[in-house]
Amino acid sequence: MSNICVIGTGYVGLVTGTCFADLGNEVTCLDIDENKIAGLKRGELPIYEPGLEELVKRNRDAGRLKFTTDYTQAVPGAEFVFIAVGTPQGDDGGADLRYVEVAAASIAETLQGHTIIINKSTVPIGTGDWVAGIVERHLPTTPHNLTFAVVSNPEFLREGSAIGDFQVPDRVVLGSTDRSAAERVAELYAPVRTSIIITDLRTAEMIKYASNAILATRISFINEISQICDALGADVKVVAEGMGQDKRIGSQFLQAGIGYGGSCFPKDVKALAYMAEAANCHPQLLLAVMDINQDARRFFVQKLERTLGSVTGRKIGVWGLAFKPNTDDMREAPSLDIISALVRKGAEVKAFDPVATKVAKRLLPGAVEYGNDPYEVVVGADAVLLLTEWNEFKGLDFERVRNSMAQPFLFDGRNLYDPKEMKRLGFTYRSVGRPVVH
Ligand code: UDX
Repeated sequence: MSNICVIGTGYVGLVTGTCFADLGNEVTCLDIDENKIAGLKRGELPIYEPGLEELVKRNRDAGRLKFTTDYTQAVPGAEFVFIAVGTPQGDDGGADLRYVEVAAASIAETLQGHTIIINKSTVPIGTGDWVAGIVERHLPTTPHNLTFAVVSNPEFLREGSAIGDFQVPDRVVLGSTDRSAAERVAELYAPVRTSIIITDLRTAEMIKYASNAILATRISFINEISQICDALGADVKVVAEGMGQDKRIGSQFLQAGIGYGGSCFPKDVKALAYMAEAANCHPQLLLAVMDINQDARRFFVQKLERTLGSVTGRKIGVWGLAFKPNTDDMREAPSLDIISALVRKGAEVKAFDPVATKVAKRLLPGAVEYGNDPYEVVVGADAVLLLTEWNEFKGLDFERVRNSMAQPFLFDGRNLYDPKEMKRLGFTYRSVGRPVVH
């Protein structure tokens, strides 16, 4: 059992802290946001993540998981201090490290004895060394016996399945100039029984960027193939299935659609391209990946306009707003670009999402209306758009949907439905990279 402090109670910090507590460790989660901490103390979570609320409650009740805003309560006595604060995109596309900097300085001012500082936030390559420099500069100037080591431990948690990803990871990556510190962190992960890669700081940081970049590349690749499928009359879903059976290729992250979103892929691909350019490299593949991702959204709107005619004055129902199912996260969600484009063009949009509506209201144009269920938003609609493949959209009463619409146009941005079945149900159905059934 170890004493752990986790700084930052966003998706990464809260999941990491809670899961380490669940493994029997004493964990204190710290955040500078007093409202967030007050809520967590009452058992209210700032985010929606399946299973997390129960896990927080269980470990809080057992006394293993505590919340505070006070560094002097959380850091002294902790052998491991995880930095899991946000690294938003800076104005120039690079990562904004101001929160990491504040965390590192605050740790330095409060640490006691020997402390292992572990960076979980996604940070530019070289940040581990930079953090060590900040801590060094903020240690007391008077003689002291404080020592520390910095370890990079990138996270690979997917929103919506973050707890499972923590408990059964494909691998744990640890980077440090201090091998014994990395080995101590490896011991923390021993109960999850997975392969552990120990390397230097910069290589660990690069593993994170390169992993997200290849996944984003696969999505843009299949989205480009879907364009070609559309033009030449092939079915991208079957193409992906046929490709995926080849073990060298694999079947994951080959679902064509309206592009990737979320808090990681868009930011990380951009940051990697930025770092590459700053180092005089030419990241042409990464630039194309980002272009294709924007095109996926534009092409979807164009398809709607081609099929429906002008969208001005048309009533459009929208199913799904979150960037993917099982989350209320709206960061870089394709729905933001698509709905904004439709509103700009004069469409009347009414949207429904099982959990993201509250967050969406802050980000979408004021003209957008919201419904309480998937049926309400299609009443009198000229078209309905499926933008997030939530489970509850799979088994709808499609006769009811079709009968309440003004025109039966269904645009499926995630290839969720079967074209033949939708045709049989009386819809004019369009999806991404799949032939139209006449
Ligand atoms: C991702 C990484 O998977 C995780 O390892 C990392 O640390 C954080 O970023 P997350 O952002 O939660 O996780 O989402 P993920 O499930 O990976 O999906 C990302 C985006 O890609 C979503 O917008 C999703 O809709 C899209 N996607 C995914 C596709 O369009 N097609 C696919 O085949 C797979």
